[in-house]
This record gives sequence, C-alpha cells and structure tokens, in this order.
Amino acid sequence: MKLAPLTELLLLLGPTPTMMAEPGELAAMASAEQIKALIESHVHQDDDRFVAVALQVAARAARQGHGRLAEEIKALIDDAKARGAQGSKRPIPIAAPRGDLIGLLSVCYPQLRLTDMVLAGPIHARLSRILQEHRAQSKLRSHGLRPRRKLLLVGPPGSGKTMTAGALAGELHLALYVILLDGLITKFMGETAAKLRLVFEAIAEQRGVYLFDEFDAIGSERARGNDVGEIRRVLNSFLQFLEQDDSPSLLVAATNHQQALDAALFRRFDDVIEYGIPDAVLAEVVLRNKLAAFDVTDLNFAEAARCADGLSYGEITQACEAAAKDAVLADSTTVATAALVAALDERRSVRRPDQGDARTDV
Ligand SMILES: Nc1ncnc2c1ncn2[C@@H]1O[C@H](COP(=O)(O)OP(=O)(O)O)[C@@H](O)[C@H]1O
Ligand SMILES: [Mg+2]
Repeated sequence: MKLAPLTELLLLLGPTPTMMAEPGELAAMASAEQIKALIESHVHQDDDRFVAVALQVAARAARQGHGRLAEEIKALIDDAKARGAQGSKRPIPIAAPRGDLIGLLSVCYPQLRLTDMVLAGPIHARLSRILQEHRAQSKLRSHGLRPRRKLLLVGPPGSGKTMTAGALAGELHLALYVILLDGLITKFMGETAAKLRLVFEAIAEQRGVYLFDEFDAIGSERARGNDVGEIRRVLNSFLQFLEQDDSPSLLVAATNHQQALDAALFRRFDDVIEYGIPDAVLAEVVLRNKLAAFDVTDLNFAEAARCADGLSYGEITQACEAAAKDAVLADSTTVATAALVAALDERRSVRRPDQGDARTDV
C-alpha cells in the first residue's frame, strides 16, 4: 500500500492526532490506538492489518453517526484494495541493486510456496510459525514482542535451504535478495566490513527476505587461505550488524557446514533449523510430485524410493528430470520404474568426490 491512502485517511480524521489533548469530535471517530495501529501497519507494510484497522475506524465513525465519513473511508479502502489487486501490492523496490551493491546482492521475486516443498513435519511447523509471526509482526511489536526474523538453516547440499528462502519470500510476497558472500569476501578482502554495512543498510531500508547463502564463507573458522585476522574482523562486524538489526526484513543464513561455524553465531539467531535428506516416505512424495505430469500408472514408487536412499532432495529432483527428459525425447508420456531407478543410480555415481555421502556432510 502506498502512502496516499494512509495520508488521506489521517487527513480525513483530523489535522493532528492529538487525541489526548483534544477529546473532541475527531477523537470520537478514531481512537488514538487505532491511529497508532494504522501508522504501525503502514510502516511494516502489513496491508491486511492496515485494512482491518481502517475498517474499524469506519465502523466506529458510522456508530457515532458520521455516516458520510464512514462511507468515504470505505471507498478509500476499496480503492486501495483495487490497486493492490492490480499488482501494486508486489514490492517495487530497488528492482535491481544499485551502486556499490552491484555484485553483492541479487534480487528476484519467487513464486514458490511452502506447499511446493516436501518437508518433514517439524521443519514445516517451524517455517509456518515464522510466517505467522512475520505476518503479525506489527501486532507482536505493539505488545513489545519481537517476531522470529533471523534464521539459520543448516544441512547438507540439496536439502532445500535455498529453496526455503524462496518459499518464505513467495509466501510473504516479498523480494528475495541473495547476498553473494563468497564473492564479497574474495573480491573485496579488506573492505568487506564496509560492504557488509551497505548490505545491512539495504536490509533496513527495503523490507524483503535476505539470504546469506553459503554462509560458512563468513562464519567459517577456517581461513580458506585468507588472512585469519581479517576473517575474524569480518565475522565480528557481521555479528554486530546482525545484533543491531531490528528491521522488518527476514534474514536467512544458510550453510552446509554446521561444525565450521563459530558457536557465538548460533546465539544471534532467533531460530536454527536443521535440514536433512529425505527418508523413504518423503522421497516417494518428491518422486510423485516431480513426475506428476507423466503417465506413472505402472511405476513402482516404493521401489524407486528405496533406490533414492541416501540421495538429497536436489539429487532426487535431478534424477526425476533426467528420466522425464528421456521420456520426452523418446516421444513418450510414460516414465517406467527401470528408467527412474537408472537415473537415481546415475545420480549417486556422479557425486563429486568432495560431496561424499549427504548424510555425513552435515
Ligand atoms: N524439501 C524439498 N521439497 C522439494 N524439492 C526440494 C526440496 N529441497 C530441495 N528440493 C529440490 O532440490 C533443489 C536444490 O535444493 P536447494 O534449496 O538449492 O538446496 P540447498 O540450498 O540446501 O543446497 C531445489 O531447487 C528443489 O528442486
Ligand atoms: Mg543452497
């Protein structure tokens, strides 16, 4: 929602919201609490709450006998909703990172949903809780409570960490900004802390989901050939920025290497979520989802799921795509068990030497 509806509403409600000092007619139309709630929801871009409170103001005005004002407020809300439906609800922020942020941040608008992911129950519950708290953040803050908004995702490659950041952004209709930490450190060694400051300024200015992917590049205790002292300084400034940040953005850090992370880091996050490889039940759901567009009447999913044992979500997805491509290229709509099993076996055999078994990589 743009500034206009809020400004117009406040103008309608009176010149200044000094309700305590002037308990006059205007005060009767909107309570001081309602005006505060309107401003808060506007600041946090919480459109649903903004509309809910504005409707309360309209109802209150109507009850007080100010029918015309109530109608005008409702018309403003309808107008704002219509504009939202036309797409203005989508963030139209710095569409692309500017200036010094080029090369440090990339931006996209994922259409993913949590339901696109096959998740173990406890992980799903924790992600849902984060979404719930984020959506109600102005309500929580008005009670002096902080929503969970600094997350650490830990797990082997291909376990859905990056995808989770996309799904959170998609669910919240927010842009996903990916901070390219590896680049940041290797390219700008020496000025990394200054660059990090820029990133955190962007986080405070532009609400979004910010993903510090491959976070171990900064969180690692191993120096990776770089000056150990410099890595320490960078890590310390990151921790400070993280601590100070009280923006409405969601910060997501993802790493494959839990053991490489400094213990001090864990305390700074509101939630640490551990990802893993799918068990046979989840693997079967992934297989079924990925091949939903094909004729799989004769496909023995239980057998295929057994062959997926030890593979990550990412590897299973790649195997499904390989089997699907073979079918398409053969002008067939059918994926057979043997083809899928072969693709899964192939996936296992093409692992990079450093990848090892996904289960032991955590
Ligand atoms: N939980 C999941 N449900 C469905 N597909 C998944 C899931 N996790 C990963 N995938 C698939 O695997 C791919 C790689 O996952 P990704 O999020 O990049 O893993 P990570 O960041 O943990 O290395 C995704 O693009 C997606 O196709
Ligand atoms: Mg990733």
